[in-house]
Amino acid sequence: MHRVTLIPGDGIGPEVVQSARDIVTAAGANVVWDTVSAGMQTGKEQGMPLPQSVINSIKRNKLALKGPTQTPFGDPYPVPIGGHVYPSVAIALRKELGFFAAIRPLKNYPGVKSRYDNIDIVIFRENSEDLYIGVERMVDADTAEAIKRITRGASARVARFGADYMRRVGRKRITVAHKSNVLKMTDGLFLKTAQDALAAYPDITVDSRVIDALCMELVMKPETFDCLLLTNLYGDIVSDLGAGLVGGLGVAPGANIGEDCAMFEAVHGSAPDIAGKDIANPMAMILSALMLLRYVGESQAADRVDRALAAVLSEKKHVTRDLGGDAGTREMTEAIVEKLDGK
Ligand code: NAI
Repeated sequence: MHRVTLIPGDGIGPEVVQSARDIVTAAGANVVWDTVSAGMQTGKEQGMPLPQSVINSIKRNKLALKGPTQTPFGDPYPVPIGGHVYPSVAIALRKELGFFAAIRPLKNYPGVKSRYDNIDIVIFRENSEDLYIGVERMVDADTAEAIKRITRGASARVARFGADYMRRVGRKRITVAHKSNVLKMTDGLFLKTAQDALAAYPDITVDSRVIDALCMELVMKPETFDCLLLTNLYGDIVSDLGAGLVGGLGVAPGANIGEDCAMFEAVHGSAPDIAGKDIANPMAMILSALMLLRYVGESQAADRVDRALAAVLSEKKHVTRDLGGDAGTREMTEAIVEKLDGK
């Protein structure tokens, strides 16, 4: 049995998390849930948006499925934990749990409108350094600068993580993105380190692209790519470009990976405009749960969920409004459960 920390989150979070949970359970996966609460609502109720017990639960279980958590606009939103104060629950979790890589799969599903129809890419994004270390300063009133930090250790770690993941799921080619023609030291170090680390995986083909050329090729012929390895900033940008290639936010799942634990979550936020109305698309959360199942080796259950989801999407009879139907979150969930093999 895999024990998984379950965080329903805010807004549409509880609705889509419940959907994913019901489907995983109905698929017969060996998963038990440890439900904890975090987010804005938890902050109101308990005085802490991220109680220490949530971190402890994830550290203990090493696995989490998380619904979106809301960060109020306007005034600073302090999230204190472990002697630090972070600006959001998401950032607090990333730092406290040492998530060094993000995975973003991009895949077409039948019935989900997009400009392309045969994309199947996995993005690995380094998540701990680059321009996001947050070292910025005003040099004078008219000049600002920021530090881009790339280290051999973090670059090799994300490259090895990507290659190990590829072996687990049977993928064969990885493209390293960089701008080393201009950023000779930083991106040069990332490219060289990644190539050196990936040389230990002779079963994986490695190539590289300058980041701007990669963006053009992704739009012109995305079907030619298998896996992408990117630094933090390029990874952030290309991940959303990629979500756009396959149908947008409602269908984009993701995972955050640390040395000891992994947390899976949809890319979208808490969508307060549609919360509590039973109209949210649960697909991104279901796909995040599916990634979790594959990650822990529950491949039969994952395949069953994948097939059932694809069947409901292609029938288009029980899909949510954003997918062109008129079903609610519950109705779509029940239709997927109904399509699971063996029913
Ligand atoms: P959002 O993703 O929540 O919503 C953007 C638009 O997409 C809205 O019109 C929403 O109705 C729609 N949408 C999002 N998910 C949908 C779904 N599953 N089905 C149907 N429609 C969907 O982004 P927004 O409005 O910028 O952020 C709202 C809150 O979510 C903010 O407080 C933000 O901080 C938080 N957020 C949390 C994240 C996390 O916890 N991982 C990630 C992104 C945002």
